[in-house]
Amino acid sequence: MQYFGIIGYPIGHSVSPAMHNAAFKHLGLEAIYLKFEVKPEDLRDAIFGAKALGFKGFNVTIPHKEAVLEFVRPVGIAKQIGAVNTIDIPKLEGYNTDAYGALKALESAGVDVEGKVALVVGAGGAGRAIAFILADKGATVIVTNRTESRGLRLAEDVRKVGECIFHPYNRLGELKGRIDIIINATPLGMKGFEQKLPIPEILLDRNVVVFDTVYNPLETLLIKTAKKKGCKVVYGIDMLVYQGAEAFRIWTGLEPPIDIMKEAALSALGLQ
Ligand SMILES: NC(=O)c1ccc[n+]([C@@H]2O[C@H](COP(=O)([O-])OP(=O)(O)OC[C@H]3O[C@@H](n4cnc5c(N)ncnc54)[C@H](OP(=O)(O)O)[C@@H]3O)[C@@H](O)[C@H]2O)c1
Repeated sequence: MQYFGIIGYPIGHSVSPAMHNAAFKHLGLEAIYLKFEVKPEDLRDAIFGAKALGFKGFNVTIPHKEAVLEFVRPVGIAKQIGAVNTIDIPKLEGYNTDAYGALKALESAGVDVEGKVALVVGAGGAGRAIAFILADKGATVIVTNRTESRGLRLAEDVRKVGECIFHPYNRLGELKGRIDIIINATPLGMKGFEQKLPIPEILLDRNVVVFDTVYNPLETLLIKTAKKKGCKVVYGIDMLVYQGAEAFRIWTGLEPPIDIMKEAALSALGLQ
């Protein structure tokens, strides 16, 4: 039996167990994925304890994504981002598959980010991962954030890998006609949060690609409005599934069954 899990505090409702267990079952693997609530002060014991017990992989969620870097070696873009969401436990190597998941969601919708101007709204964990990967892949990134100091800091960090500037959140209308891709990395539009657009509607020209990282509901206010304006849209659920799929590939070396994982995620979210 191979063991996998997700650690967070609080762990809350995660769809990762449903996604991975469905993939294991589909491929006939003798493996199980469990969730564990781990307090910040127990993080070291959890990581080394998992290694001693022979675990193959962990996903890591809030609030451990940065703290875990004390115990694992970051690989690839995780090094620059400074956050890890997937650990290869035997090797104690950490990856940021959130970044990869976002890029793959765009690519699978036929969007090539190289040479494009991308507006990333939000400078939290998701915004940070996305800003780094897009700049690394040759996009010019414009970061905006409600709290200016946090956005300025992110733009400065991202400039280490590519082109990135900050633009004030209350002056986004000025960017009309200058943006190819808009990414919402705030909780605006999420079930239980404020239902308002994260950007002024005036930015939604029909040639702009709109990617909402929010996946519950699937069709957010931003996605609905963008569709009405004729924009190409990219769904948050695809980022979620692709980040899980990449973790699966890292841990097992196998091709992840994307459709099975997506179906399991939608069902765990009560969205199908
Ligand atoms: N599809 C996926 O796989 C995936 C993965 C991760 C996250 N997400 C989505 O991304 C969202 C952000 O996640 P996170 O982990 O980055 O969260 P986080 O670290 O808490 O960051 C939240 C970001 O949203 C901004 N924000 C919060 N409330 C706002 C409001 N009322 N108006 C404007 N900006 C606001 C914050 O700005 P301040 O700095 O001013 O507080 C911050 O930039 C989540 O809600 C989730 O829906 C999706």
